[in-house]
Amino acid sequence: MAATAARKKHRKATPNSPRVGLYPGSFDPPTNGHLDIIRRATRVVNKLIVGVAINPGKDAMFTLQERIKIVEDEVRSINNGLAAKVEVRSLEGLLMHYARDVGAACIIRGLRAVTDFDYEFQMTGMNARIAPEIETVFLMASENHQFISSRLVKEVGILGGDIDSFVSPRVARLLKKRIAERKAVKR
Ligand code: PNS
Repeated sequence: MAATAARKKHRKATPNSPRVGLYPGSFDPPTNGHLDIIRRATRVVNKLIVGVAINPGKDAMFTLQERIKIVEDEVRSINNGLAAKVEVRSLEGLLMHYARDVGAACIIRGLRAVTDFDYEFQMTGMNARIAPEIETVFLMASENHQFISSRLVKEVGILGGDIDSFVSPRVARLLKKRIAERKAVKR
């Protein structure tokens, strides 16, 4: 079936089908804030697809495959039955086409400070035009994660700062290793 035809045939949720949510992002790398949103999103939906995006506009620290593996390991490490509800996949193409293809009822996004609002507002508006049947649901970042962003974690790490309270020990180890590798290549 052609991709467009497949899209039009958006899997309609029946009373018995699980409510699927799609949490898209770059996750370069996943922070404690991302994990908190994943944990809390599973209270809202029965099944959560974490869509790890190929983001051509961004110079990623980790490859797509690396990011998928890192997020999978992080989800597994939470170890409270969460892994059974969460699936980590690569997200290619337009978000809302992808959301339709996977039968998502909603997009989940985390909202931190007011600075996130403008970008999220625009994106949600555009996405609603593209696929009005799919809602975007915002989860407010928990108090202790309000200020964490992947971009700043990378910046702090590159400049030799302590990143241990922003990401899991596993992610901190991987990020420090990657930063050291990149510095070695530049020398
Ligand atoms: O973690 P990020 O970088 O804020 O996530 C951004 C993401 C992946 C959600 C956004 O770039 C996206 O939706 N990409 C898919 C391409 C797309 O649909 N772009 C149009 C958005 S209106």
